[in-house]
Amino acid sequence: MNVNISSTAAGGFVSGVKALISGQNKLACVITLGCQQNEADSEKIRAMAVDMGYGLTDSPECADLIVVNTCAIRRHAELKALSIVGNFKAYKKDKPELIVAICGCMAAEPHVAESIKKSYHHVTFTLEPSMLHRFPELVHRSITEHRRTFVFGNEEWDVIEGIGSVRTSSHKAWVSIMYGCNNFCSYCIVPYVRGRERSRNSADVIAECRALIEQGYKEITLLGQNVNSYKSDMTFAELLEAVARIPGDFVLRFMTSHPKDASDELIRVFGQYTGKIAPAFHLPLQSGSDRILKEMNRTYDTAKYLATIDKIRAAVPDAAITTDIIVGFPGETDEDFEATMSILERVRFDMVFSFNYSKREGTRAAKMENQVPEEVKKERMTRLLDVQCEISREKNDAYLGRTVRVIVDSAEQKSGKTVYSARTATNKLVHFGAESNYIGKFIDVKIIRTGAFDMLAEIV
Ligand code: SAH
Ligand code: SF4
Ligand code: F3S
Repeated sequence: MNVNISSTAAGGFVSGVKALISGQNKLACVITLGCQQNEADSEKIRAMAVDMGYGLTDSPECADLIVVNTCAIRRHAELKALSIVGNFKAYKKDKPELIVAICGCMAAEPHVAESIKKSYHHVTFTLEPSMLHRFPELVHRSITEHRRTFVFGNEEWDVIEGIGSVRTSSHKAWVSIMYGCNNFCSYCIVPYVRGRERSRNSADVIAECRALIEQGYKEITLLGQNVNSYKSDMTFAELLEAVARIPGDFVLRFMTSHPKDASDELIRVFGQYTGKIAPAFHLPLQSGSDRILKEMNRTYDTAKYLATIDKIRAAVPDAAITTDIIVGFPGETDEDFEATMSILERVRFDMVFSFNYSKREGTRAAKMENQVPEEVKKERMTRLLDVQCEISREKNDAYLGRTVRVIVDSAEQKSGKTVYSARTATNKLVHFGAESNYIGKFIDVKIIRTGAFDMLAEIV
C-alpha cells in the first residue's frame, strides 16, 4: 500500500516533540553506515529531526539525539556499528536526557535487538528501516515516557510518501524507487531486514526527480536493492526513460540491477539516452561458477550473465561495467574460484567490489556445512585483488590524454593548494587542482595521469 505520512499520526508526534523541546537549542546527529539506501534513509531521518525542532550537528558529543543508521550486510559492518554505539555510553553519563537511537538494518534483526536490550542500556530505542516513519513517535515516547522501546518484526510492507529529505549534497541526489527484496540469495540478510519488494508510484518518483532538477541537482541516482524489479504502472525501463526525458542538464544513474531482471528493454533505454543516462552499469555477478550461483540462489547462470554483458556493450560500447564478487561462499572449491577469475579476465570489469563471504544468522548459507576457512578466503581475495587491480589500471590507462566532462564533488587543501575530487560519467574518480570554486559544476578536464583507482587531470 502507498501511504502518505501527512494523513497519519506521525504529524502529531512531530508537533508534540517540537513543543517539548522548543527554545532549548537541541541538536541531532545522524551517523550513517552501509549502502546508499541507508544514506537516503538518513536524509529522511535528518528531515524528521529538523521538523521536530532539532538543529543538526556532525559531532555526537554535542548532540541531544544521536541516531546510528546501521548495516547488517557483513559481520564487520555490525561490529563497527556496535563499537560506535558503545562509545556513547560515556556521553549518557554526562547527559542523562541523551537519546541514542539505533536505526537501519541491524535494528531489524531480533538477536541484535535482544543483545542491545540486555547489554547496551544507554540505547533508548531501536527502529527497523521499514518503520522509519515512526521515528517522531519514538522520539516523543523517549522524552515523555522515559522508557526504552524496540520496534521490529514488521510484516506490513507499505510505501511511505511525504517524508522530506535533508540532502547531504547540493548537487547529487538519491531517489529511492523501490524498497525491500524478494530474492533471498542464500547468503544475504537484506530480505530479512528490509522486507518484501514494494515500489513507489511512478508519478511520485518522476515528480521528485523533476523537482530536484528544477532545484539544480546535477546527478540523480535511482535506488533500490534491485531497481529492475521495479513494478508499478510502469516497468523499470519505462520509468528510467521517463526520468531521462525530463528536460535539464543532469546525469542519471541507477543501482543495483539484478542480472535476472536486466531486460532487453532496459538495455535499449540505456543505449538510447546516452546523453542523460550515465554510461555506467553495475551488474553484480557474485560468482563465476554455475554450481555456486545455484547454491547462492541467484537464478541466472554465467552464460546468461555474459550474454547480458555483450548486449550492454553492443548498446553502449564504452560503458564502464562494474560488479560485486563474494569470495569463499560455503563449498567454493579452487575450481569454482578459478571460474570466477576466468570471468574477470574475460569481461574485464572497470571495477570489482569484492567481499569475503560472511556468515549471516538466519540465512540458508549460514547452515551450510562446508564453510571455507578464513585463510583460504584471504588467499583467494589477495589473488583476485592483484588481477583486478591490473585490469582496472589498464582500463583507466585508456583515458590518458582524453578530455572528459566531470561533475565536481568536493575540495580538499593539500600543501597549500585546493585539490578537487570529481567523477566522470563512467563514475571514475578524478582529482585536479584549481583556483576557482567548481563544486557542484560540470567541467571539462584533460586526464594527465592514471592509476587503478583514480586519475589526475588538469582543467582545459
Ligand atoms: N541487491 C544487490 C546487492 C546488495 S548487497 C544485488 O543483489 O546485487 C551488496 C553486496 O554485498 C552484494 O552484491 C554481495 O556481493 C555482498 N554481500 C551480500 N551478503 C554478503 C555476505 N553474507 N557476505 C559477503 N558479502 C555479501
Ligand atoms: Fe541480497 Fe540477493 Fe536481494 Fe541482492 S538480490 S539484496 S544479494 S537477497
Ligand atoms: Fe547494509 Fe542494509 Fe544496505 S544491510 S548494505 S544498509 S540494505
